[in-house]
Order: sequence, then structure tokens, then C-alpha cells
Amino acid sequence: MSNASSIRCLITAGPTREFIDPVRFLSNPSTGKMGYALAEAAVAAGWTVDLVAGPVALKEPDDVILYPVVSAEEMFHHVDALFDACDVLIMAAAVSDFRPVQQHAQKQKKEEASKSIEFERTIDILKTMAERKAHQTVVGFAAETDNVDASARAKLEAKGCDWIVANKVGEAGAGFAADTNKVTLIAADGSSLKIGPTTKAAIAKELIQLITPSAT
Ligand code: CTP
Repeated sequence: MSNASSIRCLITAGPTREFIDPVRFLSNPSTGKMGYALAEAAVAAGWTVDLVAGPVALKEPDDVILYPVVSAEEMFHHVDALFDACDVLIMAAAVSDFRPVQQHAQKQKKEEASKSIEFERTIDILKTMAERKAHQTVVGFAAETDNVDASARAKLEAKGCDWIVANKVGEAGAGFAADTNKVTLIAADGSSLKIGPTTKAAIAKELIQLITPSAT
């Protein structure tokens, strides 16, 4: 696997939308910038990149195979189909953890709509893929507001990743929507490395170098 051009990387990016009716959905503030920066850095490293992206307002990176999706379920179907052929999975997407039990085909009039909505969990794509991994390197992201490193380490273990990128959200210059970020890359053996604050492009370049599968 030392030849960069032989590495196939599957990257997810952006938010998902879980529609309640045609005009209302549950989502999150992800803009996809970190995932797109990773896709660009992976292409620059000579990798072949499949990019599964939720709704974002970003220019399609050159030389990637882009699969636009909306919901967590759609994202899962693409990742599920592409996973076996990939060498590296990077789940940078902010996948919605919940979706409404009922999705109405017609707009619900506000006077008639129920004021409470019942939600159910979406499938955990990262955990499901990590359980199935053979030769793949599996990289997760952890969006945390507090106890960032400890929560990310617990997540790495619970989901069975090889690496997790701990990401503090809710701070100026980091997390959702920002052009810059600071992250901690944590390995399954417990070692870690802080990267940034710097641009998401620079962080992406360093992450791609660090997670490159070693020659076998
Ligand atoms: N993820 C996923 N499928 C989901 C939810 C999250 O694959 N249904 C992935 C994300 O892409 C990310 C990692 O799991 O790589 C962690 O996501 P995060 O939102 O930080 O954590 P959750 O697993 O959602 O847990 P919690 O919300 O309790 O912190």
C-alpha cells in the first residue's frame, strides 16, 4: 500500500437532513468544509477519492467521485456500497443521530401539526463499517463541546476506529463553518497529536499524511 495512487479513500462530509415534511427538517450547522478539505488533500496526495456529501454550498473538488445525499439513511447506503473497495474511510460528516418516526408527504399546516415530534435513532454508519472492516483504516470525527479528549477517546473505543479526530465545537475559529480549526488526532493505541489552530486545508493535509496506511 506504499504506492499513493493505489489508495482508495471514502470520505463523508457535511450535514444530513432528516425531513419532517417537505418544508421542515432536523439538521446541524455543518458546512462540509473539513470533509471537502480532506477530499482535496487526499486527491493532492494521489489518492482516489469517493466523496459522499450531505447538502453543502461548496464547489465540487476536482478529481473526486461525488455522491450527493440528503439523509443519514442515504449516506449509509452509499458508504455501505463503497466501503469494501476502499482502503481508508474518513467519516467527517455530521450525521444526524435522529430522524422523525413519521415523515409527512404533505406540508403540515401549523395550526393542525402536532407540537411534539417523535424521533428514532439513525444507523451509526461509522460503527457499522468499523465492525465490518477487513484491511481498511477507519477514521472517525468526534464533535464535542466539553471533555473533548476524554469523550473522543471513549468514542474511538466504542466505535472501533483506528483513529479519531477530536474537534471542539462552539468555539471561535474552530468547528462548524469556520475556515480554521484545531483538532487532536488520537490513535487506537492511545497516542495523540494536536494540530492547529490553522486552516482546515492545512489540517487536512497533515491528517492525510498521518493516517496514510503503511506499506504491507
Ligand atoms: N456518525 C455516524 N453515524 C451516525 C452518527 C455519527 O457515522 N448516525 C459518525 C460521525 O460521522 C463521526 C462520529 O460518528 O465520525 C462521531 O460523531 P459525533 O456526532 O461526534 O458522535 P455521536 O456518535 O453522534 O455521539 P454523541 O452525539 O452522543 O456525542
